[in-house]
Amino acid sequence: MKKIGVLTSGGDAPGMNAAIRATVRTARYFGMQVYGIERGWEGLITGQITELENRSVSDIIQRGGTFLKTARCAEFMTYEGQKKGSMTLDAYGIEGLVVIGGDGTFHGAKALSDNFGVKCMGIPGTIDNDLAYTDYTLGFDTAVNTVLSAINNLRDTMQSHDRVSLIEVMGRHCGDIALYSGLAGGAEYILIPERPYDLDEIASSLIKSKLRGKTSNMIVLAEGAGNRDEIVAYLNENAGVDIKITHLGHVQRGGSPTMSDRILATRCAVKAVEMLKDDSSVSSAIGIKGNEIIAVPFEEAFNCKRTFNDDLYEAARILSK
Ligand code: F6P
Repeated sequence: MKKIGVLTSGGDAPGMNAAIRATVRTARYFGMQVYGIERGWEGLITGQITELENRSVSDIIQRGGTFLKTARCAEFMTYEGQKKGSMTLDAYGIEGLVVIGGDGTFHGAKALSDNFGVKCMGIPGTIDNDLAYTDYTLGFDTAVNTVLSAINNLRDTMQSHDRVSLIEVMGRHCGDIALYSGLAGGAEYILIPERPYDLDEIASSLIKSKLRGKTSNMIVLAEGAGNRDEIVAYLNENAGVDIKITHLGHVQRGGSPTMSDRILATRCAVKAVEMLKDDSSVSSAIGIKGNEIIAVPFEEAFNCKRTFNDDLYEAARILSK
C-alpha cells in the first residue's frame, strides 16, 4: 500500500492527536504517503483532504481535541454517502484508511470496507470506554483524571460547608467514567446505567450518615443513569439535605492527554499502519487486551459482549461505608 488516509470522527477524545501523529510518522517511515481527511466522514464525502508530512504533525502530541477536526455525519451511514467517500479516495489514489473514533465511526469503516473494498483500521477514540473488544479507549484515562480533579476540588468545599454534592459525568450507556472516578475520588454513591439503584436506600443512608456525624457526601452520576434534577429533588425532599449539583459536561472531553492515552494512541497507530502495510490483513479494530495490542475484524469486535467490572463496583460500595 503506497497511499493511506487518516481521519477522526464522532466525539473528540484526548489522544486523537497523538494517534494521528504516530500514524503519519509510521506510515512515512515505511515509505507511504499520508493524507489527512478533515471533519471525519463528512470531509471524505466533500473532499477536505491535505497531504501530511512529519512536520505537519509537530507539536500536537500534547494537545487534546483533534487537529483534523471531527464531525458526526448522518450521510455516511447511507450507501450513497459511502459511495461518494469511496470516489474521493479513488480520486486521490488512497488505498487504505486509519479511522479514529467510537462505535459509529467503526460502523462507517466496516460499511466502506464491505461495500467498496477499502481496507480500514479503526483506532478506538472515545472518552466513554464503551467498546467491548478493547480494555481501554483513547481519552478515557484523561477524562477520568479530569473528573477526579473536579471531585477533589468539590470535596474541599463540601467538607468545609458540611454539604452533599452530586457531580454528573459523561457516559450515556457506559458508567466507566463514573465508576473509575468515583472509586478513585472516594465517592459514597456511584450511579451508573449498568446497575440499578434505589433512591430510598440512598436517602436513608444519607440520614444515617448525618446521625453518625458524617455531614459531607459525594454522589457521582453517569449521565445515562438518571435525571440529575429529579434525583436531587427526591433526595433533598426525603433525606432533608440540600445537594449541590455540578454538571461537568464537555470539560471532560478536552485537555492534554495523560501518559497512558498518549502511549495507547501511539501503540494502536503503529499497529494500524503495520496492518495496512500487510497485504494479507483484513479491516480491523485495533485495541488493547492485558498489555497487548490486538487487531480484531470489525464484525468480531461488534459481537463482543461488554463485561462490567463488578469488582470495582463492589469495592466502591464497601469503601463507602
Ligand atoms: O461519546 C462521547 C460523548 O462525550 C458521550 O459521553 C456524550 O454523551 C456525548 O459524547 C456528547 O456528545 P456531543 O458532544 O455531541 O454533545
